[in-house]
Amino acid sequence: MRHLLSTKDLSRDDAILILDTAAQMAATQEREVRKLPTLRGKTVVNLFFEDSTRTRISFEAAAKRLSADVINFSAKGSSVSKGESLKDTALTLQAMGADAVVVRHWASGAAYQLAHGGWLHGSVLNAGDGTHQHPTQSLLDAFTMRRHLVSDPTGADLAGLTVAIVGDVLHSRVARSNVHLLHTLGAKVVLVAPATLVPVGIEPWPCDVVHTLDEAIEAYDIDALMMLRVQRERMTGGGSAFFPSPAEYTRLFGLDGDRMRRLPDHAIVMHPGPMNRGLEISAEAADSDRSVIVEQVANGVAVRMAALYLLLAGEEGAQ
Ligand code: CP
Repeated sequence: MRHLLSTKDLSRDDAILILDTAAQMAATQEREVRKLPTLRGKTVVNLFFEDSTRTRISFEAAAKRLSADVINFSAKGSSVSKGESLKDTALTLQAMGADAVVVRHWASGAAYQLAHGGWLHGSVLNAGDGTHQHPTQSLLDAFTMRRHLVSDPTGADLAGLTVAIVGDVLHSRVARSNVHLLHTLGAKVVLVAPATLVPVGIEPWPCDVVHTLDEAIEAYDIDALMMLRVQRERMTGGGSAFFPSPAEYTRLFGLDGDRMRRLPDHAIVMHPGPMNRGLEISAEAADSDRSVIVEQVANGVAVRMAALYLLLAGEEGAQ
């Protein structure tokens, strides 16, 4: 594996290797071994054309905990605002000796273009491209599910689990990444969304689709309920794209305390963040004992350490 661009590229063995490696990374952090020498001498560039809190900070923390040098590049305040192209930005990073480029971009396919454009010699890690993919998010989600829902996690997949992904699937790279990874790992996936927020051409996706959260809670024995952010910034269709209305959306798809209490006792509540509290999730649900939302963020560091390690730690790691 040279790049990490999409969960569709990951075999079951690839995914298990990343999750097992992340478990080892997490163990070092829990033992308060804050810094490993593994990537000493390597340079990781965080190239962010879109805003981010969790992904950017956790990739930075992951690279630093592996002793890599980190360069943070934000499109705001850079020569991108003067019209510099992705190609010329990439060539500049290559000239600075980037061993890995972590890229977030508003355009679906930007990470592929960067990886396969012939401009960089190093690895590309997709930190979210448009509505397409966010592979490390779904890996940290799988890691979190494994920790809570699988009794002997090492080497295990997620077979037998049912994961409901709720909300704005249309604009969600998190949903796309998770559908494919969870299927690869043996879980059953149920998408819960209004018809207006389900992508056209979803039929071949390996999942069920239902159109209210109450229906999903009644019909499925849900182990993990993943709430998606309503991405109003991507709804540019003249005001008509967000249907139903926000109030109707909350009534049909929002997770509140009452719905949460109708889930199986062991079920966990997830959200990739950032949350719209009061729209897709209530404060009661987000802050409840069942919520693993803050833990997802912490697990992101271990998963990103694993991804960087496997891509960059020489021939042995790169197989
Ligand atoms: N989950 C996620 O990608 O969050 P950020 O946009 O804050 O990175």
